[in-house]
Amino acid sequence: MKRVAVLTSGGDAPGMNAAIRAVVRAGIGAGFEMFGVKRGYAGLLEGAFLRLDPRSVGGIIHAGGTMLGSARSPEFETSAGRHVALTRLEEKKIEALVVIGGSGSQRGAHELARLDFPVIGIASTIDNDLYGTEMAIGVDTALNIALEAMDRLRTTASSMERAFLVEVMGRDCGYLALMTGIAGGAEIVAIPEVETTPEEIARAFADANQRGKLHALAIVAEGCRYNAQKIANYFAEHEKRIGFELRVTILGHVQRGGVPTAFDRLLATRSGVAAIDQLVQGKHGVLIGLRHGEIAATPLDQVAGMKNPLDLQFLELARVLAQ
Ligand code: F6P
Repeated sequence: MKRVAVLTSGGDAPGMNAAIRAVVRAGIGAGFEMFGVKRGYAGLLEGAFLRLDPRSVGGIIHAGGTMLGSARSPEFETSAGRHVALTRLEEKKIEALVVIGGSGSQRGAHELARLDFPVIGIASTIDNDLYGTEMAIGVDTALNIALEAMDRLRTTASSMERAFLVEVMGRDCGYLALMTGIAGGAEIVAIPEVETTPEEIARAFADANQRGKLHALAIVAEGCRYNAQKIANYFAEHEKRIGFELRVTILGHVQRGGVPTAFDRLLATRSGVAAIDQLVQGKHGVLIGLRHGEIAATPLDQVAGMKNPLDLQFLELARVLAQ
């Protein structure tokens, strides 16, 4: 019987548990013996395996985070570290590994694949920067959390006639910020892909005030050269008149927590089953993601070193609608 292990790596994302559950149950259904690895690649280096049966992954489909734990492992990024990982897999007689995670984690998966170890990646990161998937597991939940925060902030902003700089996660990718801004009706959106100066933000706030708005919300991606705090500092230093009192809200890790949406649970479940299906067919070295609305496998060779391109037409859309 084939022994297959699954791990979650990098920043946790809502829906990872649903993916673990699907991998384990589909794997057992296919006749595999299933194992989990605690704490991502860091746990792999320590040989932190645990046997998983259908009951061990019960009651987790709705839970955020990851029951296996996650970590970022600098040691695994070295060639020596990866060889230790291979030794641990061999000791445990594991014949294939499923890696649930974002771009750094899939780079690691690619390195293992290059060492001839059978690996399947499952795309999961709130940043949505991973090549080979239109939507990674966790993005929809993070987006909805940011949107809810924005809706809440607007009510207090309008009541007090204030402007808010709302900082959204996403590392160096503007996807979450841009989609939050469009879906939430922001006055301006700043993303790392296209530089927005503090002067432009000040102008957008002042214009909104001139047009009679009682509030103004700017969504700022954390990866921008001018993040929310820098913009606020700039306004203070230059005594910018924006027509509103200013407040800063940094959403941060709040976006990664909580209950995964139906979309993320379904995407995670379908991806987990597809990962096992690849192994059943004797295939590996691929990333499971969503392409043209369908679950699809992309070779890890193509994924490594690439970034999911952000469609900048959406930035124009955000501008046009912020009148
Ligand atoms: O990659 C997911 C992410 O949440 C990014 O959006 C963010 O920049 C980073 O992880 C934060 O990392 P950490 O959880 O290690 O603070």
